[in-house]
Amino acid sequence: MTGYGALAEVYEWLISDAKLAPAESAASFDDVLGLLPSDAHVLDCSCGTGQLAVGLAGRGIQVVATDASDAMVRRTAELSEEFGASVRTVRASWEELPEHFEDGTFDMVFCVGNSLHHAEGARGRGAALESMSRLLRRGGRLVLTSRTWELVRSRGSRLDISDRLVRRNGRDAVVVYRWEIAPRWEEEHHIEIAIAQVDATGSVAVHSELLSCWPYRHEELEAELHRAGLRTEASTFDGAAENYLVVASKA
Ligand SMILES: C[S@@+](CC[C@H](N)C(=O)[O-])C[C@H]1O[C@@H](n2cnc3c(N)ncnc32)[C@H](O)[C@@H]1O
Repeated sequence: MTGYGALAEVYEWLISDAKLAPAESAASFDDVLGLLPSDAHVLDCSCGTGQLAVGLAGRGIQVVATDASDAMVRRTAELSEEFGASVRTVRASWEELPEHFEDGTFDMVFCVGNSLHHAEGARGRGAALESMSRLLRRGGRLVLTSRTWELVRSRGSRLDISDRLVRRNGRDAVVVYRWEIAPRWEEEHHIEIAIAQVDATGSVAVHSELLSCWPYRHEELEAELHRAGLRTEASTFDGAAENYLVVASKA
């Protein structure tokens, strides 16, 4: 599994201004949240630092937040405490989820923010989607967001350096993404992310991590969702846009 041990401490520099506040993070999913029953149970299964989970709890939704990374789960618990929210946190990879929850427990499962590409290839992705599907009640929905890997791969290996300083907690940082694009789709790819914090004296502190990922085409994802017993209800896929959202319901 991919790490996030080093990035967890500085992850807010990677979150857009628009999604930093928990309420705004949840509001970015208003369309799908409107589909939930009043007593909804929701799982965020790659919760990261917890903005979405805490934002959902702030709306009175019963939320469980899971992640494979200990550091991310700890940060979610801390954010939840800071906001006085009621979020249950569990450290679990996608494949481990059925060991923690009964089948059919949730009305909605979120796997958002460029997470699924960390599943190891088609087999790992299939197992992850199978777990998420099992935990959904019949008619429940998986909400997934993804990078448009068709676009990412077409650009090849490269360095992306932010064109503005990102300011969080009173500290400015330059954010750098180094993309290692493998020759073939099914091979392991890498993204190295570096957050170079600059203080008032000009000193630079760098936090970086090399992450593994396995890209997939939109059409492959649709077929894999189908195999996991999920029917695509909506997709915003557009080959020219950076990201897309898929909503799939449990058949
Ligand atoms: C790019 S972050 C996204 C976090 C959050 N959803 C967001 O939108 O900011 C990807 C997350 O997926 C988690 N992750 C990676 N592999 C995982 C796995 N096999 N099972 C569960 N979570 C995983 C990482 O620990 C990390 O928190």
